[in-house]
Amino acid sequence: MKIKQNSQILVTGGLGYIGSHTVAELIATGYQVVIFDNLTNSHLGVLENLETISGQRPQLVIGDVTSSSEIDQVFQDYEIDAVIHFAGLKSVSESLAQPLKYFENNVTGTINLLKAMAANNVYRHIFSSSATVYGAHNEVPFKEEMSRGATNPYGRSKLMVEDILKDLSNDPNWEIIALRYFNPVGAHPSSLLGEEPKGIPNNLMPYLVQTASGRLKELQVFGNDYDTKDGTGVRDYIHVVDLAKAHVAVLSYMIKKPVNFEVFNVGTGHGISVLEMIDCFEKTNNIKVPFKIVERRPGDVGEAFADVAKIKDLVGWNATHSLEDMCKDAWNWEQKNK
Ligand code: NAD
Ligand code: UFG
Repeated sequence: MKIKQNSQILVTGGLGYIGSHTVAELIATGYQVVIFDNLTNSHLGVLENLETISGQRPQLVIGDVTSSSEIDQVFQDYEIDAVIHFAGLKSVSESLAQPLKYFENNVTGTINLLKAMAANNVYRHIFSSSATVYGAHNEVPFKEEMSRGATNPYGRSKLMVEDILKDLSNDPNWEIIALRYFNPVGAHPSSLLGEEPKGIPNNLMPYLVQTASGRLKELQVFGNDYDTKDGTGVRDYIHVVDLAKAHVAVLSYMIKKPVNFEVFNVGTGHGISVLEMIDCFEKTNNIKVPFKIVERRPGDVGEAFADVAKIKDLVGWNATHSLEDMCKDAWNWEQKNK
């Protein structure tokens, strides 16, 4: 099976935060895209904005991966050559409250998709995994071969899917890549695409921008007694456009070279502390962010950042956006969309 440059890529969850940025990069590279999304955490306005950015409107199928018939129908209706699978739920706290909802969406949904792919002779699959699969006891930087573990149903759903994909790859027809994202932040430089968290955000960057804009009163910094450079938590923040480009690079890699099953970290390889992030945000955007240090957040690790040698060496991809770019684009997005 050979993918032509203008072949169709099915992007599940393509109206979401990372999916929409990836759709924009795929179209810019010359791919035809079919988006499959149930709008559970996105809206149709994203399609308009993708059209404004790309000059063409991607195909959209509204459907749910938990419905075998809806996902199967896409392969009947479109000539699909590869699938990038973002569709899923991503809140750790919600997954603790409603584990079955998470296993159904993230695991059953993926099984339905994989069955529909196999039934229609489509075997190229790129899966959205997460750095959350690294167990709590690994030393930074995290390398792909390190031990894995999960502390919540969301993380376990990613581990389970990684294992399913690995088992599936015993059949040599399959070409599967799981990408372990570190901490995606920022927005499209046009400010037409970005993250739209529902309710009060859990993650640092959306909380920070909403504090800067006055929507929230004060940022709480969860702990300054970690064994890190300044005591606050360290993470590997990656600009969402870099992450989107990683998908295009990996797709092109698997088209050029046979892949059976590979896992890649996607990060910058640099650890940034909460205080460094606040400082960069304040300096880049010339705005003050009120914050106070509070207790550690239960379940957090002190440091998590990637070893990115594998994706650099094999795929030739590396992140190019700076922390300043992440802060600037996140702030522009907030100002334009609050
Ligand atoms: P998002 O919520 O913005 O996007 C997910 C999209 O999938 C949404 O448009 C939603 O409507 C759709 N969707 C959800 N369930 C669906 C279903 N059952 N059927 C069809 N569509 C469905 O999330 P995101 O941040 O873009 O994350 C995309 C993927 O990357 C997820 O699988 C997530 O677990 C994974 N991931 C995200 C992060 C992060 O920090 N954002 C980190 C690691 C991994
Ligand atoms: N933090 C604060 N205040 C906040 C929010 C976060 O100080 O209001 C700190 C956290 O303690 C941590 C850092 O900022 O040190 C980053 O926290 P995030 O919540 O932004 O990101 P996490 O790394 O904790 O979690 C993210 C995703 C999870 C995923 C995990 C590993 O939200 O879904 O990465 O990939 F499991």
